[in-house]
Amino acid sequence: MAFDRFGRKIHYLRISLTDHCNLRCIYCMPEEMTFRPPAEMMQDDEVLMLTRLFAGLGFDKIRLTGGEPTTRLHIVDIVQGIANTPDIQSVSMTTNGVLLSKLAKRLAAAGLERVNISIDTLDPAKFKRLTRWGDIEDVWEGILAAEQAGLTPVKLNAVVVRGYNEEDVVDLARLTREHPWQVRFIEMMPFGGTTELQIGQMVTAQETMGRIEQSLGLLTPVGGGELDGEARVYHIPDALGDIGFISSVSAPFCANCTRARLTPDGILRMCLLREHEIDLLTPLRTGASLEDLRKLVLEAVWNKPWGHGLAGGEIPLNRMMSEIGG
Ligand code: 5AD
Ligand code: SF4
Repeated sequence: MAFDRFGRKIHYLRISLTDHCNLRCIYCMPEEMTFRPPAEMMQDDEVLMLTRLFAGLGFDKIRLTGGEPTTRLHIVDIVQGIANTPDIQSVSMTTNGVLLSKLAKRLAAAGLERVNISIDTLDPAKFKRLTRWGDIEDVWEGILAAEQAGLTPVKLNAVVVRGYNEEDVVDLARLTREHPWQVRFIEMMPFGGTTELQIGQMVTAQETMGRIEQSLGLLTPVGGGELDGEARVYHIPDALGDIGFISSVSAPFCANCTRARLTPDGILRMCLLREHEIDLLTPLRTGASLEDLRKLVLEAVWNKPWGHGLAGGEIPLNRMMSEIGG
């Protein structure tokens, strides 16, 4: 088991498999994004070696992110390798859904448990504007394919951006009346790359909730209003699904954080919103022993930071969102 100095048990690893993406969401990366050369990235066997290392330290929950994880070559095999790693209990994925209509079945068969799919609006024109060129139809097909393949419960993620989709949250929330999905509204966080927009056009979870309640009526807390992972969950009376709010900026969930993150280049990051990183891939490639690597991870876990510094103006600029994976 890996505990940090605050007594949090850290057992959830988010692995970003690639910094590449087939979309260019305005809150995630600049349009003229440049990507890193593949040789600098974890190779398939390195991903699996590091997964085994973490599993041996009590990590039992893996989420694959990106960039866009489905754009990674051999994604189905990677999922299978991770799902078959002893002591890994669950493998899930955060994806933009574009390729899911082709991949959902194979991913489910390989051992993927469920998916979170990003969809920030139901309006095709606004969707295009937010993603720079995305076609919402692809995502819809992806959502339905995921559901059919049993990658459930399907969760939908919407980042709320003023001037782009702050009014669209009502239509998204309304989806939960008829679908057993969890639609989650995420406060936009600032990183490198598109910082000005991320700060200037952030909409708080409180504002989004107010807007939804004004149109759809009062929301009822699910599970006594406690955090479910990082989301506070509510539902519309009689709805099949739930509505979640992720207020990472205005009300961080650090006390409940059980996560560590691995970037595509094999670097361990103990807090999404702190710049501090611990390189694991270089030692792995230069012959470090398993014991050395275990020590590196345990020390990093022990020193996991508490709380981000956004309120004090400390913004993590050393990487873009697409290189960390949300
Ligand atoms: N703030 C909050 N969430 C973001 N995502 C991407 N960029 C940001 C940001 N700046 C979300 C995506 C996706 C997940 C990978 O992270 O919408 O749901
Ligand atoms: Fe791609 Fe996801 Fe970033 Fe959008 S938010 S550009 S879909 S990685």
